[in-house]
Amino acid sequence: MANPKSLSHPAAVVLALMMMAASITSVDAAAATFSVSSLGAKADGRTDSTQAFLSAWAKACASLNPAVIYVPAGRFLLRNAVFSGPCKNNAITFRIAGTLVAPSDYRVIGNADNWLFFQHVNGVTISGGVLDGKGTGLWGCKSSDQSCPSGATTLGFSNSNNIVVSGLVSLNSQMFHIVINGCHNVKMQGVKVIAAGNSPNTDGIHVQLSSDVTILNSKISTGDDCVSIGPGTTNLWIENVACGPGHGISIGSLGKDQQEAGVQNVTVKTVTFTGTQNGVRIKSWGRPSTGFARNILFQHIVMTNVQNPIVIDQHYCPNNKGCPGQVSGVKVSDVTYQDIHGTSATEVAVKFDCSSKYPCNRIRLQDVKLTYKNQAAEASCSHAGGTTAGTVQPTSCL
Ligand SMILES: *[C@@H]1O[C@H](CO)[C@@H](O)[C@H](O)[C@H]1NC(C)=O
Repeated sequence: MANPKSLSHPAAVVLALMMMAASITSVDAAAATFSVSSLGAKADGRTDSTQAFLSAWAKACASLNPAVIYVPAGRFLLRNAVFSGPCKNNAITFRIAGTLVAPSDYRVIGNADNWLFFQHVNGVTISGGVLDGKGTGLWGCKSSDQSCPSGATTLGFSNSNNIVVSGLVSLNSQMFHIVINGCHNVKMQGVKVIAAGNSPNTDGIHVQLSSDVTILNSKISTGDDCVSIGPGTTNLWIENVACGPGHGISIGSLGKDQQEAGVQNVTVKTVTFTGTQNGVRIKSWGRPSTGFARNILFQHIVMTNVQNPIVIDQHYCPNNKGCPGQVSGVKVSDVTYQDIHGTSATEVAVKFDCSSKYPCNRIRLQDVKLTYKNQAAEASCSHAGGTTAGTVQPTSCL
């Protein structure tokens, strides 16, 4: 920009002031850019570039202006890294053209909770990029019954606000692909999760203790839940997501703890499930808890060959321990299933297996049509009450 001091004509001064104002409101113009390559990262897939990424983060986080961390094309080997705030600005963008690769020896990051972890940050955007978690070795270890590390989540956000993840690909995570924990205002769009259908505990996106989270226009193919929704999730919006293979979209498991925050105001709309274990599921432990799930809407959903298209299961209790009488304390209410069509891979396409102490109530089924082998499927209810509207097939048991 021209130096205002060299301008004498009043109109030129006004113009210069206007340009300065424009440069302040336009984020990119004012952003400081830190390229990981200029800080020592090597795009060869073999050189440990962790330190360069941490240096870039330290500079971006200390910047008083918005900052961009640029990752060029190529493969960058990274060990587990923590990107901590609070920062001096609230607009840091990771612009990733290339691929971040985890170490091929799964033991290097296998005991860390997260491979790439953001905590106490405000205003972080991750744009583009492929995260290759190299999880296949750990999955193999787990399937061979040896003692194995539990594995790292590929990308974790904790206690953070105003997060955007856009156009990211997460490949073969050791454990969960993306975890949102204790966050407020998170937007994820155009995210792709890719892992084998038989890979263990590789949930696509897990949300818990968080509010105002949006997941849009994403495709999730994995070995566990496409999206799992844990205690303390409120105002979650999921729209235009393709799930499969995987275990479906699951609220739960809830009620593991006696004192537990509830799940409230969740919308899942325009979603396809293809060859998944479940479609839309609410799942709770069969044990005492203060937890709940309410104001849930499942809308405009297509099921193709799904084993349990619509399911509420309140009798979860692995190893049958600590579930006195299998009575769940979790209160499930105001759950609406609207415009849900397609095929079930099993005879029972709708299953409401609720708590005997706190029956599910105000369940609503509207315009549901699910078939099994070209015939009407079945519905099964236990301690579930509610209403139907429009065509509902299988015939409701509410
Ligand atoms: C429910 O959540 C959505 C965002 O997912 C929000 O727009 C809406 O205001 C929330 N409704 C209530 C009653 O809080």
